[in-house]
Amino acid sequence: MGKTITIAPVTRIEGHAKVTIQLDDAGNVADTQVNVVELRGFEKFCVGRPVEELLRIVTSICGVCPWSHHLASAKANDAVFGVTPPPAGRKLRELCNAIAYTEEHILHFFFLAGADFVMGPDADYAVRNVLGIAAANPDIAKAVVRNRHLGAQMLGIVSGKSIHPVTAVPGGFSKPLAEDERQRLAPMAGEVLEFAKFAIGFAKANIFPKYLDAIKTLAVIKTGFLGTVTEDGALNLYDGKLRLMKPDGSYTDFRYDQYTEHLGEKVLPWSYLKFPYAKAWGEGFDMDLAAPKGIYRTNTLARLNVCDKIATPLAQAEFEGFRAQFGRPVQHTLLYHYARLIELLYNAELAVQLLNDPEITGRETRVPVTPRAARGVGCVEAPRGTLIHDYETDAEGIVTDANLIVGTTHNNAPINMSVKQAATSLIKGGKYDQGILNRVEMAIRAYDPCLSCATHALDGTLAVKVEVFDHTGELLDTLANC
Ligand code: MG
Ligand code: NI
Repeated sequence: MGKTITIAPVTRIEGHAKVTIQLDDAGNVADTQVNVVELRGFEKFCVGRPVEELLRIVTSICGVCPWSHHLASAKANDAVFGVTPPPAGRKLRELCNAIAYTEEHILHFFFLAGADFVMGPDADYAVRNVLGIAAANPDIAKAVVRNRHLGAQMLGIVSGKSIHPVTAVPGGFSKPLAEDERQRLAPMAGEVLEFAKFAIGFAKANIFPKYLDAIKTLAVIKTGFLGTVTEDGALNLYDGKLRLMKPDGSYTDFRYDQYTEHLGEKVLPWSYLKFPYAKAWGEGFDMDLAAPKGIYRTNTLARLNVCDKIATPLAQAEFEGFRAQFGRPVQHTLLYHYARLIELLYNAELAVQLLNDPEITGRETRVPVTPRAARGVGCVEAPRGTLIHDYETDAEGIVTDANLIVGTTHNNAPINMSVKQAATSLIKGGKYDQGILNRVEMAIRAYDPCLSCATHALDGTLAVKVEVFDHTGELLDTLANC
């Protein structure tokens, strides 16, 4: 039995995971696993609550993407109650979504992933972090902190609070936007747009060209893609139809409330995270690198692969350049970062557009709702991928069943495959160093996983394994429930 390499914890991601790499007797990679070592369980304790409370409960799933859960839950509530929010209510939700996206994409590119590119994948880990970036580029660091702060302030003005929001309600939005608030927000949104233009220009000039070889090789796998588009095929992050693309680029569009006909979920005994797959392709589920079956990806690169265009001019121009250079669909995992910066630009433009829309200050922001027995599906594109909330209620409006499929969950199998591809191609004859192990982590970071968001299964089919170590790290006992 060969050696086992463990990367624990994986750093600069949201949530907790470890990577296990098993080497064979020759020191080559025999197998890898990304173990998600936390459990949240929201699917269970949403049951029994009044459905209108879920908008506020689900924001506690995650301190990073509360807006995505808040809005997916709001849309599921709209569907349960059978109502459509008025234009001002819908646009205020979209505005908050766009602002939250700018904050999150800036966070990921500069705080979490950036160190691998700015400091380099082989840099000592003592400086391969946000403090290293700040010391090397103090002006950029200041702008990053400033623009994240602007996002939080803007969300505070629109909705009262930026984290764990409460303002989206079934049927719309509870707080109309006043004209003086709109006037305070407009220059702030303009400043974030300037930063978004700088960010993509900086990365195109100083970062991506240096890593073209790595982009073409590291963690590259062949999969399909899932994302949301409007009726005419434009990228949309708040609403639209789902587009499921095969690895060959052919695709099927469907309504998101029909997701169970197209997507299945597989449970494997070594992770709390489920493994969604494209059930509609009829080929089952297999993470084999040479012949994967049913595997698709979500998140930034997936959305740019499935869409035909972007509705804002600057992002559209960047999108055209991206597609001309890399084709469709793009399988290069590190290009998630490039796609993320195009989306940053799109959201910054969209926030400016919405703040110039006369309807945004409309006084009618919600419609009344009445409890009923129903099923409602809500779906938004979270920064980390397609987010589905699916609720069923009884006649009193009490939740009887809840299913969540979170952006990161869709990418569970692809993340595992990318890690295996990276480890297999980099570790030979038992030789590896910190730089190589960091590249394995980079395979995960490209997907910007949010693991605290993604682990909700508690259905009794999961194996819970407890490993007991002594103070020297020797494994004393393993306890398992199956
Ligand atoms: Mg689920
Ligand atoms: Ni999250």
